[in-house]
Amino acid sequence: MSENHEREVWESRFGLIMAMAGNAIGLGNFLRFPVQAASNGGGAFMIPYFIAFLLVGIPMMWVEWSIGRYGGKHGHGTMPGILNRLWRHPLAKYIGVLGIAAPVAFAIYYSYVQSWTLAYSFFSLTGVYSGITNQADMGVFLSSFQGMTTSQYFSSIATAYIFFIINLSIVFWVLVRGVVKGIETLAKYAMPLLMVFAVILVFRVLTLGTPDPAFPDRSVMNGFAWIWNPDLSRLSDGSVWLAAAGQIFFSLGIGIGSMQCYASYLRAKEDVALTGLTTSMSNGFAEVVLGSSIAIPVAVAFFGISATEAIANAGAYDLSFQSMPLILQQLPVGRIIGTLWFGLLFFAGITSTVALTQPPMAFLQDEMGWSRKKSAAAVVTFLFLFGNFVVFFIGHGVINEFDFWIGTVGLVVFSLLEIIIFAWIFGMDNAWAEITEGAAIKVPRIFYYMIKYVTPVSLAVLLVIWIYQAGFDLILLRDANEVDVPYLLATRGIILFLIVLGGVLVHRVSKKWKV
Ligand code: ALA
Repeated sequence: MSENHEREVWESRFGLIMAMAGNAIGLGNFLRFPVQAASNGGGAFMIPYFIAFLLVGIPMMWVEWSIGRYGGKHGHGTMPGILNRLWRHPLAKYIGVLGIAAPVAFAIYYSYVQSWTLAYSFFSLTGVYSGITNQADMGVFLSSFQGMTTSQYFSSIATAYIFFIINLSIVFWVLVRGVVKGIETLAKYAMPLLMVFAVILVFRVLTLGTPDPAFPDRSVMNGFAWIWNPDLSRLSDGSVWLAAAGQIFFSLGIGIGSMQCYASYLRAKEDVALTGLTTSMSNGFAEVVLGSSIAIPVAVAFFGISATEAIANAGAYDLSFQSMPLILQQLPVGRIIGTLWFGLLFFAGITSTVALTQPPMAFLQDEMGWSRKKSAAAVVTFLFLFGNFVVFFIGHGVINEFDFWIGTVGLVVFSLLEIIIFAWIFGMDNAWAEITEGAAIKVPRIFYYMIKYVTPVSLAVLLVIWIYQAGFDLILLRDANEVDVPYLLATRGIILFLIVLGGVLVHRVSKKWKV
């Protein structure tokens, strides 16, 4: 750690819990979860989901909180320095590079999608799309907003670009204010507001009933039934299990580097057991109870099950940016309801975006001795430069490519490496001492064995099945459109570049480390 840089600590317990919840709760809870659940067996999806939550989610959350707090005690907020302390081997710090490169790559596409939520809350409030009455036109609105076509609504990508810049400016503003005044303050307002918006929306959805009596099948209750009726035959399908585990990773925000980074700002003996569990539980609540009670039931109530299925299969973004605006504006005070929906997504998204940008911030400050302002400027400039690639080539599947490598495979690979180093190399007794130090609850001893054996084995099995089932086709781009291939390869090039750059920087700064 640079000598002239004082590390911050979370100021209040409430602020800490809100910041951690903000880190975990994101677009994944409200957009990704309902679509995953509905398209992977409905209620049956919840069986692998809860198993993955218990075997991998909660243990990894404790592992990452303990690793982070341990790193913070030694002046490191990022994985290269932390892993180097846990395992005194030259390789450790290079494995840790993933904990900076991956969140940067994640933030590059995530923050762009998140900027759409800001744009759409503005559109909803000001009635920009209020004349549109069908799905196809709403689709044209979205694709012309994204610059993929032109229409009477948008003749260029300029509007999306402006929101992209406004959003990055907000991120910069939060980062420059620091962990306490920036991130903690943002979370203290954004998370309660998100909850209020979610409760209003859920209440509105529950009171929708059957909006059009001519179609008695199109009801909110049928929407819930579609999500929750278990299709147990799907449990023998490996891809359902993979989807459930993938959702747990994405949504909890584990295996990326940002949970550990936030935990590095804990006080040395502050509890990780109860607060880590609280974070996991509130994330679960936000997605299982709130996330599943808005978009899908409302879509079924207005379009019926088969149309909703088609929308869900087209992806989470279509559901959110194409169907929801259309539906919500049909309700009384629809513009306000639409603004609440996109406002909710914006708060969920921005608190996760700043969590993804904190690892590079911490690296530049802790390891390179940069000021907060200079670090924030560098990180946001980086997001801006590489964000342009996503902005302009979105039509070539680059978001899915980033999401596959970083938001899916990367999370599992990094979690596996991390838990092996923590539980096996640092040693399970030391790891257990870290997890239980200052604990406000008694962590059941069974988790000692789960973290040592069950979680790493589950992760390894998951990875092998994944690569076997879908990985090769995706890795070799077998199903990709020929025109998209150069862009998909360029996406991989960016990820590789970030890893190499991280490696070079880590190589340089690690010369100063005492161990
Ligand atoms: N954990 C964040 C989300 O759910 C990335 O969106």
